[in-house]
Amino acid sequence: MSKIVITGASGHFGKSTINFLIEKGVPASSITGLLRDESKAKDLIDKGINVKLGDYTNYQSLVTAFQGAEKLLLISGTDISNRASQHRNVINAAKEAGVNHILYTSFERKNESDDSPMALLAKSHIETDQALRESGLNYTIFRNNLYLDVIPLFVGQQVLETGIFFPAGEGKVAFAARENLAEATANVLMEIGHENKEYAMNNVENYTFQSIADELSALTGNRIQYVSPEREVYRETLTKAGVPAEYIGMFSSFAEAIKQGEFENVKSDLENLLGKKPVSLKEYLAQTYTVGN
Ligand SMILES: NC(=O)c1ccc[n+]([C@@H]2O[C@H](COP(=O)([O-])OP(=O)(O)OC[C@H]3O[C@@H](n4cnc5c(N)ncnc54)[C@H](OP(=O)(O)O)[C@@H]3O)[C@@H](O)[C@H]2O)c1
Repeated sequence: MSKIVITGASGHFGKSTINFLIEKGVPASSITGLLRDESKAKDLIDKGINVKLGDYTNYQSLVTAFQGAEKLLLISGTDISNRASQHRNVINAAKEAGVNHILYTSFERKNESDDSPMALLAKSHIETDQALRESGLNYTIFRNNLYLDVIPLFVGQQVLETGIFFPAGEGKVAFAARENLAEATANVLMEIGHENKEYAMNNVENYTFQSIADELSALTGNRIQYVSPEREVYRETLTKAGVPAEYIGMFSSFAEAIKQGEFENVKSDLENLLGKKPVSLKEYLAQTYTVGN
């Protein structure tokens, strides 16, 4: 089995991909997890995988960590403003270290112009995708849709009492479970034939926030309302509730992008790569809101 490096190995997506690789029979000894914080290494070492220290901002640490790797999964970083150059470091270091194939967790979008409500976040993905296409390396780009797992952030912790207050209108999202995205990524890492491909990673079913409210109502037996306020009303309400401006800006941008259909997609790439139906909204909400009740 070829040598596989997973970056972001301390994060949710990285850990989950590593778990699927091991579960599906990849020897732990052929997997390397890249971390920037040594204190997060213990459970990875316990699994028997190799752990290397490296930071997307430190080129030489990456070249050293990637030695001997055939495939590399680059998990997008969290420093939105600086990550395009960080990702270029990873791609260049992979090239220098002789990596054959690099896979990247990119992001779904339609509007690639500066007018997009997601422009700030999307820019680094657009630039990274382009750098991969021009890298001369074999590449696979996963256009990951919004995780089902972010719904609780958008609807708030008290959603069952307060209902949903979110300015996404009737926009539809092809939300997919992070676990499904990670499993499909593990499958691609284990197979051949995915070189220079770009996949839309989403559920075939698309969901509005009204449908989230309806599913929650059915699940709990209580009527959960969905209100899509005007943007300004949303901002004022969250400001009065003490939500930091940075979060209000982020939630407003996502809501506007959803309203504009940025995350609507009916392609079946995820289902094909998984070899099974992805987790549906109904299943995700049932797991998340009824456990322990
Ligand atoms: N599609 C969606 O809905 C959605 C939602 C959330 C995030 N995302 C994106 O998908 C990525 C993976 O998701 P996730 O849930 O696994 O996020 P996560 O749990 O926050 O993991 C992010 C990982 O990236 C690592 N990282 C960040 N900056 C780095 C750097 N400069 N050098 C080396 N490693 C660095 C983090 O390391 P530390 O542990 O040291 O911080 C962590 O391991 C996120 O980073 C983000 O870009 C997508």
